This record gives sequence, C-alpha cells and structure tokens, in this order.
Amino acid sequence: MKNKAINILNENWRDGYTVPCKDLYPFQWLWDSGFIAIGYAHFDMDKALQEIKTLLNSQWENGFLPHIVFHKKSDTYFPGESFHQANLHPLANKNYPSTGMTQPPVTGFVLEKILKISKNNNEVLNFIKKNIDSVYKNHHYLYTNRDINNEGLVYIYHNWESGTDNSPIWDDIWATMGAPEINFKRLDTNVVDASERPTNKDYYNYLHIINIAKKYAYNDAAIAKHSPFLIQDPLFNSILIKSNTALINLYKIIGGNTSKIEQLQKWQEKSISSFNKKLYDEELNAYVHYDLRNEKPIRYITSSSFSPLFAGICSNERAKKLAHTIQTKFGSKNLYLCASFDPENERFNPVKYWRGPVWVNLNWMLYYGLKDYGYTSLANKIKSDTIELIEKAGFYEYFDARKTSYKQNTKGCGGYNFSWSAALLIDLINKN
Ligand code: GLC
Repeated sequence: MKNKAINILNENWRDGYTVPCKDLYPFQWLWDSGFIAIGYAHFDMDKALQEIKTLLNSQWENGFLPHIVFHKKSDTYFPGESFHQANLHPLANKNYPSTGMTQPPVTGFVLEKILKISKNNNEVLNFIKKNIDSVYKNHHYLYTNRDINNEGLVYIYHNWESGTDNSPIWDDIWATMGAPEINFKRLDTNVVDASERPTNKDYYNYLHIINIAKKYAYNDAAIAKHSPFLIQDPLFNSILIKSNTALINLYKIIGGNTSKIEQLQKWQEKSISSFNKKLYDEELNAYVHYDLRNEKPIRYITSSSFSPLFAGICSNERAKKLAHTIQTKFGSKNLYLCASFDPENERFNPVKYWRGPVWVNLNWMLYYGLKDYGYTSLANKIKSDTIELIEKAGFYEYFDARKTSYKQNTKGCGGYNFSWSAALLIDLINKN
C-alpha cells in the first residue's frame, strides 16, 4: 500500500508542486498541498519542502494565500484563471495566477509536523526559519481582514474556502440567495460521474459569489459587506488555531521573535474563547457553523463539528461530549467512520462529495485530535476504518460510509489516485 501511495504522489508531482488529482484538479490547491507535503516528508523531504515553497511563492503582498494556483493552462477544469480574474485585486501576486479566495490555513501545522517527521533535521529547520514569516503574514492577513467583529473568529466568503465545498450546511443560504443562471460548460463531469458531483444549479451559486467578489475587485471590506455568503466555519478556524499553536512552538525553537509570539498568543486566546462561546451547540453536543450574514448558527452536525479536537480548543468535558456524538450518531456498526455529514439527517447523501461520504483528510485530523484527548480506541477505529476503506476501494477522493455498499471490486468515489488520500495514508501507517 505504501509503495502504491508513493507512486501516486510521484505521478502527480509537476515540477515544484503536486496536483490533487490528474485531470479533475490539474493545479495546486492550498490545503491539499499541506497534506501532500506531510506524505512526502516520510520519503522525499526535498519534495515536501518544495511543495510548501511553491505554495508560499504564490502569496499576495497583503499575506493572502490563494486556494488554487494556476501554474499551467488546462482544458479540463472550470472555472479557471480567466473566470476568477484574481488580478483585479491590486495586491495579487503578479507571477502566479490564482483564484481570489483562500482555503483552510494548514501551512503552520504542516511545517511543525514536517519538522517532527524529520526528527528535527537541520535542513528542515533552516527551511522553516526562512519561510515561517510568510505563514505568520498569512495569519496576520486573516486576523486583520477577515475578523470583522474583532472576536478572533475569521469568516469565509465562499463555500470553496471551507474545503467542504457542497456540504448541506450551505443549502439554506442557496435557497434564499437567488443566484442567476450562468451559461458555462462543466468540465468536471467529463472526468467523474455527474451523480457524485455538485449539480449545475449548485454551480450557479458558486459562480454568483465569485462574480460579486470580482465586482468589488476582491476587496475584503467590500466582500464582508456585500457577499451573501459570510460564514464562521469551525473547521477553518480550528485549522487556523492549530497553526497558531504551531507557529508559537516553531518561533520558540528558532528563538527571538518575541513580538510575533506575543501577537500569536493574543490572537489565540481570543479565538479559543470566542470559538467555545459562539460555536458550541449545547443541544447537538457539537460545534456548528455560524452564518454571519444572517446572524444565526447553522445547526447541523458535520465532520467539521469535531475539528476543535484536532486544535486542542475544547475542554475535556466537551471533548467527551464530542466523542460521544461521534460514537452515537456517526459510529453505528453499519457505517465506517467518519461520515462528513450527520447520517441521521435527511440531507445525508452517502455518495455525493461533502454531503455524507468519508474523507481521508478529515479522518486524519480526527484521529490525531481524539488521540490527543485520550480517546485512543475511537481514534484507532477512525484510523483502521480509513486504511480499510483505501485497501478495499482504492486511493479515491472520498468513500461511501455504508459498509453494505462494499461488494468485491467496489470502488471509492470522485477522483482516482487522489494525492491527499495517498499522502495521509503514508502518515497513518507510519508508527505514530
Ligand atoms: C475539492 C474539495 C476541496 C479540495 C479540492 C482539490 O474541491 O472539496 O476540499 O481542496 O477538491 O482536491
């Protein structure tokens, strides 16, 4: 399995970065790159570091990191560079065409993890010394531009910024948004079965928000004012908090940098406190998303609801409740852990992307989170389910959670030879 995973990463490597999936996703994606670098770190540290370096090269002058970097032209992906037009923003990177939206800020914790995998290798530490300020600058961008209430919780303005693109979480927003029909040609459904992908109507919503952002030249303040989609996402904020911790630890290893450490600690304190006050739902026993535009919580349980475990955000008491919710709602005998959406809810769809299937990167975060809080057997169950799914169904993008779906030769869903499934498998089967 490990060799197959290594081959997938090497095949998806494109001279400085790795595509998440040939044809389906032919560019560099932000959080994919982070997970991918963790995989490389176990067998090819040069590639791991180059992956991160290329990503950071695409940074904008204001510290923003784009969700896709369009390194090469491609005719298998829409919407590409010419639709996004990120260069409308005056501080956009002149050398790396990209989107004008971001993705969960994984880079901080990825650097710390890579250093750990390298057993504190000097070359890796030097790389971190040279590059850590770019990651700090990215956090600075997020806290200064995306935290409109100054409460330590940053917003996302597009569902693609969440990483959990078509989650049922967004359905109520789509229902009232009134996106116009847009004439465009889908390319993803040439590569993957349409039943597993978002619908055309979903795409109208996605493109509509981009058009609004373009109208304001991707100006953050204007987007905060006018975007119909403005969400405080527990997954995005957990990842930011996890990366804050990592940056603090790394700056301490490097030495000096006192004012940056102090600033990170200030952000961290405020973020954790607001996160626990605002995003926890006592009735659901889970963290939920908050709709800033409509000033109300979005009361559904997703795998993102448990991501605070990964970032050390919750008290032991709450961790216990989260573990209980995972076990009782997501952990029935007939399901693999962990579905991406509440399997008991009517919006659950076992094969459609983020509307229910199991994703390897979320499982990876939950594994480490549960382990850190002492839920070793539940953590190990998530790990063994992940490995079993890949063994049975291949290195796919995501997997049906229902055990009964797996006959001989049943395949996973979405894209095949998927990079982060390969990369994180390598990490999971390594002795952790
Ligand atoms: C899909 C996923 C997103 C990922 C991208 C590239 O859009 O929803 O999280 O980053 O594919 O793999």
